Amino acid sequence: MSYKFKITKISESGVSKLDFNNIPFGKVFTDHMFVADYIDGQWTNFEIKPIAPIPTHPGNMAWHYGQAIFEGMKATVDAARNPLLFRPEMHAVRFNKSASRMSMPEIPNDLFVQAVHNIVHMEKDWIPAQAGSALYIRPFMYATDETIGVKASETYKFIIFTMPVGPYYTNPVKLLAQDKYVRAVIGGVGEAKTAGNYAASLLPATMAKKEGYDQVMWLDGVHKKYVQEIGTMNIFFVINDEILTPNLDGAILAGITRDSMIQLFKSEGFKVTERPITIDELIEAGKNGSLTEAFGSGTAAVIAPASHIKHNDEVVELDMNNRKYSSWAFDTINGLKNRTVADKFNWIVPAEPYQE
Ligand code: COI
Repeated sequence: MSYKFKITKISESGVSKLDFNNIPFGKVFTDHMFVADYIDGQWTNFEIKPIAPIPTHPGNMAWHYGQAIFEGMKATVDAARNPLLFRPEMHAVRFNKSASRMSMPEIPNDLFVQAVHNIVHMEKDWIPAQAGSALYIRPFMYATDETIGVKASETYKFIIFTMPVGPYYTNPVKLLAQDKYVRAVIGGVGEAKTAGNYAASLLPATMAKKEGYDQVMWLDGVHKKYVQEIGTMNIFFVINDEILTPNLDGAILAGITRDSMIQLFKSEGFKVTERPITIDELIEAGKNGSLTEAFGSGTAAVIAPASHIKHNDEVVELDMNNRKYSSWAFDTINGLKNRTVADKFNWIVPAEPYQE
């Protein structure tokens, strides 16, 4: 169905002040946001308006009981500066899976997708064309009941705002696998893109930074043995020319870049296997030289090669001149997103103004 949005445009865009060659990640916001409310069991008040703070009562349930979920998507441009989206439907589906796990209302996929189209089309002048840069799209939903007491809220806000962004990681990442803290267990909320998962990762990430590492490489919560993900990204390894990635076991975020890379690698004839991967086999493969690459994949990070993996006292250092698969992955996904690589899976969707 086609939804009607109330649209109020900003009087003067801030885009002329943006230095497109120097965009930090996550700090610059575009002119507008999309807002919808969930009241009396239905989504209503669809509106695009100038981005502004949203006053919130201190008793707002999201602050206390954590009903907050989000997505991360990107819009890019082709050579003619047409705005393009990447697999928007899949993001809507994942968003609703997160909603359902967190006992939040689903938002119709077509409403989610139309809102994304509309706001991206409106903000198209903000989309950087530089390789590795994009318009980052942040749809999110949070509880809005003003009630203290542990139960699901009855009201929610759904908002989409956008940001021009440069690369999330500018250098190869150093990964630390440790046994003290865990990110997720099967049956928990690891598969949901919920705010608390990221909050829980901050202390271990700070500790990793103190040791000179950029990110934690999470191990499973039961055996502390199987690699799960990085927290900002899913993870791939190359051992003996075979691309490996942990299988989705219910505790790992089902990354859309992860899924895309698996399909792209396979279509190129590369051998890809999704299976449990132990930290011990990685360290062993690193020591005997059969582990040749490790790289993360994510919407924000795109493809981020890893230079070091540490576990206990063992450190594996990877040869940053050998990036056969990660370079191919980076070039292919970026090429798809600016239409210089053929889109054989029809993942690229031109952003259209459903309403002006
Ligand atoms: C994304 O990749 O879009 C995420 O949400 C991860 C976050 C580190 C920005």
